[in-house]
Amino acid sequence: MRILLTGKNGQLGRCFQDALKGTNHELFAYGSAELNIVDADLVAAVVEQVKPDIIVNAAAYTAVDKAETDSENAYLVNATGPELLAKQAGILGIPFIHVSTDYVFDGEAVEPYLPTDQTNPKGIYGASKLAGERAVSAACDKHIILRTAWVFSEYGNNFVKTMVRLAKERDALSVVADQYGCPTYAGDLAKAILHICEQHEQGKLITWGTYHYCGDTPTSWHGFARAIFAKAELLGIIAKRPQLKAISSDQYPTPAKRPEYSVMSTQALASFGIQASSWSTSLALVLSKLT
Ligand SMILES: NC(=O)c1ccc[n+]([C@@H]2O[C@H](COP(=O)([O-])OP(=O)(O)OC[C@H]3O[C@@H](n4cnc5c(N)ncnc54)[C@H](OP(=O)(O)O)[C@@H]3O)[C@@H](O)[C@H]2O)c1
Repeated sequence: MRILLTGKNGQLGRCFQDALKGTNHELFAYGSAELNIVDADLVAAVVEQVKPDIIVNAAAYTAVDKAETDSENAYLVNATGPELLAKQAGILGIPFIHVSTDYVFDGEAVEPYLPTDQTNPKGIYGASKLAGERAVSAACDKHIILRTAWVFSEYGNNFVKTMVRLAKERDALSVVADQYGCPTYAGDLAKAILHICEQHEQGKLITWGTYHYCGDTPTSWHGFARAIFAKAELLGIIAKRPQLKAISSDQYPTPAKRPEYSVMSTQALASFGIQASSWSTSLALVLSKLT
């Protein structure tokens, strides 16, 4: 299968390249320097040249707080770019796999969000990703939109790497304890995407649309930090756990408001034979790669 991947230098992009190692798929992977997804002519030219069987979009504007004052760029990368890619997929009649976020929800729910639940983003990032979802579904019938959450990996910048760094520098840390979500290993997400690509290749019947893929056990940022420190200490990555204080979001103001409860149900993906990511197992794997 000829797979065109955008965002190759990001967490998901790098994990997707790892997931393809040892397979016989042909990967055509691009970073922003080679393929700026907001450049309509370039997107059309690259798709024309590669002639992919499937397009996977791992490119995104992911700076949640910066987006509040940089909304034009956030919308360009998160809505216009995916629309341009999806249009090309639509023209070729090939599937387009796109990734979105739990931040399309307002977090007022009391049970895990289903893909069909009402969206209502609290910030520009979530709003731009929601605009992207709508543009993708309008531009390409054969689309899969995977909403994910709290992504971590051995690559790039993420909460796990930040916590490990801070644990080495400080004796005490305060972490927000009133936002709940599902940490997700980018490597597990990459494997789920590859699985969907292969089901398509094998001619399996696919119900196109929006799905949720994230970690299996909801936690707070505070709970996630506690798990990170416990495993990091066990693996000898940090000498000792810092004191961990639970604080409220009010005590840690950020430019973008975040949902209090963005736990998502991954149940709908069972139809692909895909289970939620076991983030605790994957956390140990990622930490072991950081040594
Ligand atoms: N990170 C999270 O916690 C999180 C949570 C929920 C959902 N998601 C979603 O999950 C997906 C993957 O996120 P991630 O954490 O892997 O993101 P990431 O590490 O921030 O990587 C995003 C990549 O997008 C590329 N990019 C940005 N602007 C571009 C443009 N104009 N043209 C082409 N490429 C561009 C960048 O490429 P270069 O490096 O080459 O410049 C970057 O490597 C995204 O759709 C994101 O919205 C992430």
